[in-house]
Amino acid sequence: MLLRLALNLCFAIGAKGHLHLGRTANVIEVSQLSNGTVYDFIVAGGGIAGLTVADRLTENPNVTVLVIEYGPFDKREDAVMVPGAYFPVPYLWLPLMTTPQLALGGTSYGVPCGRVVGGGSVVNAMFFHRSDAKLYDAWEELGATGWSWTDLLPYFKKSETFNPPNAEYAAQHNITWDESLHGFDGPVQASYAPYDYAGSENFYNGVVSLGIQPAKDPNNGHAQGIFRLLRSVNPKTQTRSSARVRYDRDASRPNYHILPSTAVSRVLFEGTTATGVEYVATSNGSKSTVQASKEVIVAAGSVHTPQILQLSGLGDAAQLKTLDIKTVSDLQGVGQNLQDHLVLKVNYNYTSNHFPNGGSLQSNTTYANEQRKLYDGGNPSAYDLTGTTGNLIVQLPLSNWTTRSTSIATLARRFDPAALLGASSPESVLRGLEKQRSIMIRDINREAVGGLSWNTGPETSIYMTRPFSRGSVKINSTSIFDAPLIDFGALTDATDLDILYAIYMKNRDIMSTPDIAVLGPIEVTPAPGLEDEVAIKEELIRALAPSNAHQCCTAAMMAQEDGGVVDAQNRVYGTDRLSVVDASVWPLIVSGGPQASVYAGAEKAADLVKNRYGLL
Ligand SMILES: Cc1cc2nc3c(=O)[nH]c(=O)nc-3n(C[C@H](O)[C@H](O)[C@H](O)COP(=O)(O)OP(=O)(O)OC[C@H]3O[C@@H](n4cnc5c(N)ncnc54)[C@H](O)[C@@H]3O)c2cc1C
Ligand SMILES: *[C@@H]1O[C@H](CO)[C@@H](O)[C@H](O)[C@H]1NC(C)=O
Ligand SMILES: *[C@@H]1O[C@H](CO)[C@@H](O)[C@H](O)[C@H]1NC(C)=O
Ligand SMILES: *[C@@H]1O[C@H](CO)[C@@H](O)[C@H](O)[C@H]1NC(C)=O
Ligand SMILES: *[C@@H]1O[C@H](CO)[C@@H](O)[C@H](O)[C@H]1NC(C)=O
Ligand SMILES: *[C@@H]1O[C@H](CO)[C@@H](O)[C@H](O)[C@H]1NC(C)=O
Ligand SMILES: *[C@@H]1O[C@H](CO)[C@@H](O)[C@H](O)[C@H]1NC(C)=O
Ligand SMILES: *[C@@H]1O[C@H](CO)[C@@H](O)[C@H](O)[C@H]1NC(C)=O
Ligand SMILES: *[C@@H]1O[C@H](CO)[C@@H](O)[C@H](O)[C@H]1NC(C)=O
Repeated sequence: MLLRLALNLCFAIGAKGHLHLGRTANVIEVSQLSNGTVYDFIVAGGGIAGLTVADRLTENPNVTVLVIEYGPFDKREDAVMVPGAYFPVPYLWLPLMTTPQLALGGTSYGVPCGRVVGGGSVVNAMFFHRSDAKLYDAWEELGATGWSWTDLLPYFKKSETFNPPNAEYAAQHNITWDESLHGFDGPVQASYAPYDYAGSENFYNGVVSLGIQPAKDPNNGHAQGIFRLLRSVNPKTQTRSSARVRYDRDASRPNYHILPSTAVSRVLFEGTTATGVEYVATSNGSKSTVQASKEVIVAAGSVHTPQILQLSGLGDAAQLKTLDIKTVSDLQGVGQNLQDHLVLKVNYNYTSNHFPNGGSLQSNTTYANEQRKLYDGGNPSAYDLTGTTGNLIVQLPLSNWTTRSTSIATLARRFDPAALLGASSPESVLRGLEKQRSIMIRDINREAVGGLSWNTGPETSIYMTRPFSRGSVKINSTSIFDAPLIDFGALTDATDLDILYAIYMKNRDIMSTPDIAVLGPIEVTPAPGLEDEVAIKEELIRALAPSNAHQCCTAAMMAQEDGGVVDAQNRVYGTDRLSVVDASVWPLIVSGGPQASVYAGAEKAADLVKNRYGLL
């Protein structure tokens, strides 16, 4: 979250006849496929959504699935598995950069996302929680019929195995939960860290002293107040629980194949019916095709899904024409509506020099070695916490962050989509944004718009999670190996800066409460000593990053005349046998970490696919 980098058992009906698979039967190589090979389903992208759908479809042994993933398998390095050793860099798309962000002085920023079997679930910071019920209800209002909180709750449960914390630890650390809202048999192990720094107690009490309520269970559809972060960590081993773990469990399924280190370069069509995909080995560029008899399912993440769609002739026809791509379906919304969370790091020194804290593993080798021994011995340890992140978060609606919520909402109402996106933007996209904005403004004081987390050491992270600004992803060439143009449009709607400023100022209030003041905080960045709003905002603009690795919404589930790309069953408009199942389909970004919602949405998408083909 915090990086700145910046066999149908006889399925081979091609000329090659039967496949001969190795000992890990379901990891296959390019050489084992031929252009005539046919699967029931091909999944493009083996990240959270792709593996979740593949796992559910292959529960039926008669259904054959091939997942094609650009990245390799991880090697179970400490950096992947051990929370305190968190360092995902080897498995990120690098270098992936934004276009110059015009409202941020023309700077370009890194775009963190996972490139590995398991996608984001192998590289993420493991925070695992749901958003406000209102947010999902807004999806439904925008056209995603059947995707409200009530509809999704069974899928949130289905995807997790919730491990309640030790009762005594929970009581001491103010962790409360409601078991009726959780699942106990799903693939993702969800747990609370059994360790925390003393500074968390200062933070908790400081926040509560300002009247901010503790959340009863942040996963109950009211993800507001202060709470400890549930994480996708197996509590027995204190190691990462990723979408890959679930694949490993299924390793004996002969109907489930994964082709790693291979790029899907486009979807193949007969007319408007998807028949398979073209793919390219990342090692040597050799191209082949593979056929899908039932459906091609795209799950390449919200940056690369629109890239694959556009390369396949799905997108704005005028734009595709400039690259000589034949249009299959003129879908103006493909790649539009890009959203992410803004991140602002705020750093303080503490005259108390309190030790240990969330920075100590990095700054003190003796301490790190001691803690690692404890971890390896199965004892509670600082290594149970993710990297240098905090363990508590505050999430609030706008009126709980600031007394200025009415004027900020008034400001938001003054902007209109054509002014923000440019009058030459497609009518449909403008219409969809107008609908989104009116819902967002209506709910601005009822759902969380931002979060704040102190790591008990040098770093506080502020997240603006309800952006009004919109960006886009557009291909820049016909090669899958050329990065698309990624433009977050960060702060193009000035309302976002006002919201960020409100959270930043609330953080100053929190730092001034007696519970935290006792530690002697002195602001180091971004705006020490500044009191003038304009001057502070200038520093915030300089310090913020436009992506918290939570990209979404680039193939939205809305009506086509509102800029939508898929229908409420994830099917791409104007095509047959083609769907998108990842975070690209959300109309609006979730607040907080997205992964729990990606898992739940993919679980639902898998049921919809099964229903379509009578596979339940
Ligand atoms: C560093 C980092 C930290 C994060 N921290 C958190 C957190 O703490 N909590 C949280 O909830 N969320 C977190 N997230 C976000 C979360 O992991 C993502 O929202 C989630 O993984 C999105 O799921 P997805 O299925 O849409 O895409 P992904 O999981 O990204 O999967 C997409 C997959 O498709 C592959 N792919 C792309 N193009 C192609 C192609 N052409 N051919 C074949 N395969 C392709 C990619 O390599 C990738 O593996 C974090 C993300 C990152 C990167
Ligand atoms: C390209 O690489 C793939 C995967 O490593 C391999 O199977 C294939 O034989 C290679 N093709 C060529 C032409 O070298
Ligand atoms: C798989 O196919 C066989 C043979 O057609 C059939 O008997 C069986 O019921 C099918 N299994 C499932 C789970 O659909
Ligand atoms: C838990 O909450 C109580 C108040 O209800 C407070 O006194 C205590 O310090 C808190 N503990 C932690 C670890 O936050
Ligand atoms: C937000 O403010 C309202 C109104 O003061 C209050 O009732 C509510 O408890 C606050 N929410 C939280 C999470 O503190
Ligand atoms: C397989 O398909 C690819 C991509 O369309 C093509 O380049 C290649 O020549 C085909 N190979 C054979 C053996 O037909
Ligand atoms: C570093 O860690 C050791 C072991 O926990 C501790 O004794 C020492 O005081 C720490 N040093 C600093 C500067 O905090
Ligand atoms: C986009 O393509 C143009 C023309 O090939 C190239 O000059 C430019 O560098 C590309 N932009 C990016 C960001 O890759
Ligand atoms: C914060 O601490 C560092 C390291 O001790 C020091 O170099 C720096 O001057 C301090 N900054 C402020 C604003 O106190």
